[in-house]
Amino acid sequence: GIPVIGRGQARANANIALIKYWGKADEDLIIPMTSSLSLTLDGLSTRTEVEFLDATAGSDLLTIDDQPQGGRALGRISQFLDVIRKRADIDAPARVSSYNTVPYGAGLASSSSAFAALAGAACAAAGLNVSRQDLSRLARRGSGSACRSIYGGLVQWQAGHDDASSYAEPVETDMDLALIVVLISGQEKHISSRQAMRHTMSTSPFYRAWVEQSKDDLEQALVAVHTNDINTLGEIVEANALSMHAAMMAARPAVSYWLPDTLVAFEAVHQIRSDGLDAWATMDAGPNIKVLTSGQQAIQVAEELRERLPGVNIQVHRPGPGLQVNGAGDG
Ligand code: PMV
Repeated sequence: GIPVIGRGQARANANIALIKYWGKADEDLIIPMTSSLSLTLDGLSTRTEVEFLDATAGSDLLTIDDQPQGGRALGRISQFLDVIRKRADIDAPARVSSYNTVPYGAGLASSSSAFAALAGAACAAAGLNVSRQDLSRLARRGSGSACRSIYGGLVQWQAGHDDASSYAEPVETDMDLALIVVLISGQEKHISSRQAMRHTMSTSPFYRAWVEQSKDDLEQALVAVHTNDINTLGEIVEANALSMHAAMMAARPAVSYWLPDTLVAFEAVHQIRSDGLDAWATMDAGPNIKVLTSGQQAIQVAEELRERLPGVNIQVHRPGPGLQVNGAGDG
């Protein structure tokens, strides 16, 4: 085979937004309209290896869970690798192999772990010496939410206004949080978050209002974090997600990720909450819901959910670590 000129490996965990990112101020650089807040989770990860090959021509190769990929998936990875190649001043094609413990494209934030791991592995393979902030900014170019998976636990993505100012940072907290993933469907989404955001921004009369509300939500969520107030945090988190989906539903034509069982799951969360437990739902670009709770109540809340939602896969996820890189580039 073709000799390898550089190899890098990295592992990243997916993150779920508590205060959402929905809409880009700059499509090319992926600068968001709003800042966002997320929790990086244990057990939803991507492990990626990148090898740059000693050839001046030839195309990139990609496998995801040992399945060769072409088309849009490969195109997106090649485009991302071009950013790395440009920075490292190399011309080499790459072989990328990636393994996931998270279903792909189902609104379970697989792109957040995928592009964070790819950024780490590609920088290591290219011999780039990069800081964590560089890695966050690079991961952002692959998928916005990926910039937050560079760090573990609670993370804030500062929207910024250009490539240099738009990156994520860890949020210090003593809060004991957990997220329960309620897997209603593992099927790939019918419309990508990229397309859905663009369509919401350009056609939804509620989009402006969502952007304004989101700024308040983030401010209040951070206050709740700093005062260790899970009730206030949970209320804002659930309201923020529903507002985002309301803006999507008001788009013309509507964008909807809801299935009947999504609503059933929301109802179950509300019941559990009125019984006095910590439970607030959030939802992304897919029909699944994630339930914010405290680490202490997580097992009990998961059991209550399983009782009310028979046959549904329900998993507790604790906060997880940020990007881990093998080789150079782990600045
Ligand atoms: O980074 P993307 O393009 O996968 O978009 C993520 C969008 C949401 O998951 C719905 C919200 C978020 O902040 O993660």
